[in-house]
Amino acid sequence: MESLKDKIIMERLPQHIAIIMDGNGRWAKEKGKLRVFGHQHGVDAVRSSCEACAELGVKYLTLYAFSTENWNRSSFEVDALMTLLANALKSELKTLNNNNIRLNAIGDLSRLPKTQYNSLMSAIDNTKNNDRMTLTLCLSYSGRWELTKAMREIAAKVQEGVVKPEQVDEALIDKHLATAGMPDPDLLIRTSGEERISNYLLWQIAYSELYFTEKYWPDFSKEDLYEAIIDYQNRERRFGKTSEQIKK
Ligand code: FPP
Repeated sequence: MESLKDKIIMERLPQHIAIIMDGNGRWAKEKGKLRVFGHQHGVDAVRSSCEACAELGVKYLTLYAFSTENWNRSSFEVDALMTLLANALKSELKTLNNNNIRLNAIGDLSRLPKTQYNSLMSAIDNTKNNDRMTLTLCLSYSGRWELTKAMREIAAKVQEGVVKPEQVDEALIDKHLATAGMPDPDLLIRTSGEERISNYLLWQIAYSELYFTEKYWPDFSKEDLYEAIIDYQNRERRFGKTSEQIKK
C-alpha cells in the first residue's frame, strides 16, 4: 500500500517550513493534567517533525517555541518552559550533530535566563558547520519586535548618512531581519484549530501557504507533517500572478 510519505513529490518539497506549535495546554487539560505536561510532550513532537523534515530534505524548519507575549504567562509555566528548553538542548545536541542539523535561534535572546542563553549559544556554535537542515527556534520572538528592531537599525543608518531613504527597499529590510539569509517560509503550519498568525514572521510569510490542523501539537506526528506537505503541493502558488501566467 502506498504510504503518505510516498505521495510527496520530492522535486516540489517546501524549502522552508515554519510551525506555530499550539495546543499543548488544551491537550494536557483534556487529560486532566497540568499545562506543563503538554509542553513536555510537545518536545517529542518537535523531535519527530525535525526528523521528518531532515529525512525528506527540507532545508529550513522554524519553530515558534516561545513568543514575546509568553513572558506574561505564570512564572511557574515560564520556568517550566525554560527548564524544558535547557533539558532539550542538553539531550538533543548529539542527535542534532548525528543528523547534521544546524541549530539557530532568533528573538530577543537577551531576555532568556543566563543558563539557557549560554547553553543555546554553545549548541549553536557546536552545530554551526552542519548543513543538512537549519532548525531555527524562535525564542522570546515576535514579528513586531523583529520589525521594530529592523526599523530602528535602518533609521540609525539613515541618520548617520550611511543609507539614503530611497535606498530603503525590500532587500535592505530583509537584511535587517533576524531571518536574514534564510528563504521565506513556503509553508506555515499551525496546530490546534486556531487560525491566527499570532505575531509570527509577519514580514516573511507574505506569500507562504497557510495550513491549519485541528490536531494539538503533542499529537502532531510525522504523518501529519506529510499530510500538510501533500496539501501544500496540491496548491497553486501564484505570487500575485494569474493561473494562466503561472502555467506558461
Ligand atoms: C503553545 O501551546 C506552545 C507553547 C507556548 C510552547 C511550545 C513549546 C514546546 C513545544 C516545548 C519546548 C520546545 C523546545 C524547542 C524545546 P499553548 O500552551 O498555547 O497551548 P493552549 O493554546 O492549548 O493553551
